[in-house]
Amino acid sequence: MKVLVYGSGGRDHCLADKYADSQHIEKVYFSPGNPGVLHTAKGREERKLIELVRLKDFGAVADFCADQDVDLVDVGSENPLEEGLIDLLNARGVRTVGPRMEYVKLESDRAFADDLLRQIGVGKPEYQIFDDPEEAKKYILNIGYQVVVKANGLAAGKGAIVCDEVADAIAAIERIMIKKAFGESGNRVVIEERKYGTEISFFVYLDGEHVLPLKMFAQDYKPAFDPDDKASIERFGGNLNTGGTGCYCPHKLVSPWLVNRIIKEIVNPTVNAIYNGLGWKYKGVLYFGLNLDPYDNLDVFELNVRHGDPEWEVLARKLSTDLFEIGTAVWEGTLDQISQVWNNQHYMDVIAMEGRSKASRGWNKGYPGRYGKGHRITGLDQIERGIAVYFAGVDEDPKKGLVTYGGRVLHLVAGDSTLEGARDKAYRNIRKLSFVDHNNNGATCLRFRHTIGA
Ligand code: GLY
Repeated sequence: MKVLVYGSGGRDHCLADKYADSQHIEKVYFSPGNPGVLHTAKGREERKLIELVRLKDFGAVADFCADQDVDLVDVGSENPLEEGLIDLLNARGVRTVGPRMEYVKLESDRAFADDLLRQIGVGKPEYQIFDDPEEAKKYILNIGYQVVVKANGLAAGKGAIVCDEVADAIAAIERIMIKKAFGESGNRVVIEERKYGTEISFFVYLDGEHVLPLKMFAQDYKPAFDPDDKASIERFGGNLNTGGTGCYCPHKLVSPWLVNRIIKEIVNPTVNAIYNGLGWKYKGVLYFGLNLDPYDNLDVFELNVRHGDPEWEVLARKLSTDLFEIGTAVWEGTLDQISQVWNNQHYMDVIAMEGRSKASRGWNKGYPGRYGKGHRITGLDQIERGIAVYFAGVDEDPKKGLVTYGGRVLHLVAGDSTLEGARDKAYRNIRKLSFVDHNNNGATCLRFRHTIGA
């Protein structure tokens, strides 16, 4: 069988890698992909099976699928889904994993998803929706409790600003609605009660009729900096949210009773609303961003229409079920016949990010602020066997080889029989890597968080 994974980030590289593990697979095409896949630390087998196809244009992808007899296309990220890649491929007779364009509003329109969840009585923090920044500010001045200000549309995981004080919330409204930090996605904001507790990323596969809840969940670390890194937090004007800086699984709270509770209280009513209320034949992944607070309230922060990044990178390593069988069942409507199997390892993903680097004039602050590019990535040959490296923001330079090209550059995923063991391995190995800052005497500008899984 031949699969094409459409995407270019770490989650997409990991999807390609996971399909390549399938017993059914002859070839995995990764498009538009990233050149990191050819340098993976996981081994030669994967390189043989995965072929980089640098097609971005949806029509060209459909032509390629027809020419190569591709059996299944899996679309990893929200942007191509929102732009209608699934609709186009289906119209051309290609079998896919991923929701149609119309259904992406569960992620790309927070107000729509929040209203849906409120209607069906699923646990949610209090929220209000605003199109007018002045009205939003008036609301903040009156409610008294802490909030999170969220851009309504897609914002690469950075659109939620967690606020301590009223002044932070006012600044967040200005940043999103007036300065348009996330473009048109900030024309509308959702202002949500700030919750405390433990974040849980929970995933289900849907096939238009059945639901396959993954009975294993992960914990993502969204803030850019470790809580004790006061200097960075001050320099950036707060501990900004990112798409994720690292992740581990199993989440410390994984237990049959909590999985059952999430399915009963959150998943089933939501899926029922999607299938029967909205009448949608949703096929793909649905991601529930949840919070369990100290008083045992389970709340939904957000819905996403794809796997989490970096959550998928750890879940995929732990999942023993053949991904091609899941993907095929999504398309064929036979998810009820899939049994999920998880190995007994713990996994940790630490993300190597672009840190502070020297620009031609002054300094780049580093991700999630302005970051430099083109820094040579060294040390990959030192990574211990069995550790996976999934690439995200990378490019290939004819002279330097693999270089940085984004804020989140690569994921290093280590597994062990204990979380502590996985953590030690991940941190021991990430220290072998360097992003060479050619403008700063070759010092490394690689940055990572030190408290993932702690
Ligand atoms: N890790 C959070 C996300 O994928 O949105």
